[in-house]
Amino acid sequence: MKPTLLVTTQPGFETYLKEELKTLNIKKIIKYTMFRGLLKVLSENPYETIEVIKKEKDKFKFLMRAVPLEVECPSDLESIRKNTISLLKTKSIDGKSFVVRCNRRGRHKYTSEDVERFIGREILENFDLKVDLKNYDFKINIEIIQDTAYISIFDDNFNEFRHEGNIKKSKYLKRYIERPLNRSERKMKELVERYPNIFDVDIAVDIGSAPGGWAKVLAENAKVVYAIDTGNLRIKKDNIIHIKKRAEDIDNLPQCQLLTNDTNLYPEESALLTVKLSKFLVKNGYIIHTIKSENKYAIKEDISKVKKIFENANIKILKIMNLKANTINEVTLMCQKRA
Ligand SMILES: C[S@@+](CC[C@H](N)C(=O)[O-])C[C@H]1O[C@@H](n2cnc3c(N)ncnc32)[C@H](O)[C@@H]1O
Repeated sequence: MKPTLLVTTQPGFETYLKEELKTLNIKKIIKYTMFRGLLKVLSENPYETIEVIKKEKDKFKFLMRAVPLEVECPSDLESIRKNTISLLKTKSIDGKSFVVRCNRRGRHKYTSEDVERFIGREILENFDLKVDLKNYDFKINIEIIQDTAYISIFDDNFNEFRHEGNIKKSKYLKRYIERPLNRSERKMKELVERYPNIFDVDIAVDIGSAPGGWAKVLAENAKVVYAIDTGNLRIKKDNIIHIKKRAEDIDNLPQCQLLTNDTNLYPEESALLTVKLSKFLVKNGYIIHTIKSENKYAIKEDISKVKKIFENANIKILKIMNLKANTINEVTLMCQKRA
């Protein structure tokens, strides 16, 4: 399978769009990108995939645009030039009019307009075509995502899909979203919005899960979530397995790719639990860990204590975050198991 479609939604709604895309009636893999509101679909071919999206459009509440991708190449101008020319040679376009459009995401030495002008000039030199910015016969569509460019030739039969209804309704999208279970859920939501890739795992283990805000969000991204807490969960989902025990009493778990801990314990106690359960985490697996201090003045010292405990266990702290839903006595750590 290869990248065949870029799909956009309102930033913050990526996980909802992913759920919708999962139900599409074709073989596919759905990936987050490093850009908010942008997902990538891998499938057999772009022509079939865009047709399926159009046919099943009524099931989408979160999809805005779906852009089919014909050719992938590096995002330097020379590669884009070579690949656009090769793609055009496969089409019957003699004497037709065209326009070049580029959407660029990431940092580059050129602007989207530079790409449009450069590619436009190169095409005029190599083909018997004319430019028409309004009434063109076909459009050369170039999507640039950091180091990769995707080129497609759109005409009346093969084109991008815009869900006009959803685009219009986009400012009311929040209406479709359930209210969060608790403040903790908002912390996890913010993390997923910022770092969608690390949550896209087979197995996540959540320590101190009740009432279930984190587990709920994790279960929208991971295939299975083991939720460990002696307390009751206020949510039920087929892919959440509640282990009604204290984390220190757990001896057996499958290997996970993500470990999360939001227990309301003293910082050192809680850190030791993360260390204990990190034996079930794969090497380079991520850990999300909340430090809950007694007051805001203790946070700095608590971070150093936790850092020491983690260092001894080969857990590296990658980021110390103040999430919007953190209290003033809390910080959230993103860590990685190094050995
Ligand atoms: C702030 S709540 C967690 C909220 C949860 N992350 C959510 O999103 O709903 C802290 C939880 O840690 C649990 N807890 C405390 N000590 C624990 C332990 N040793 N093992 C497992 N859970 C523990 C408590 O029972 C409590 O439900």
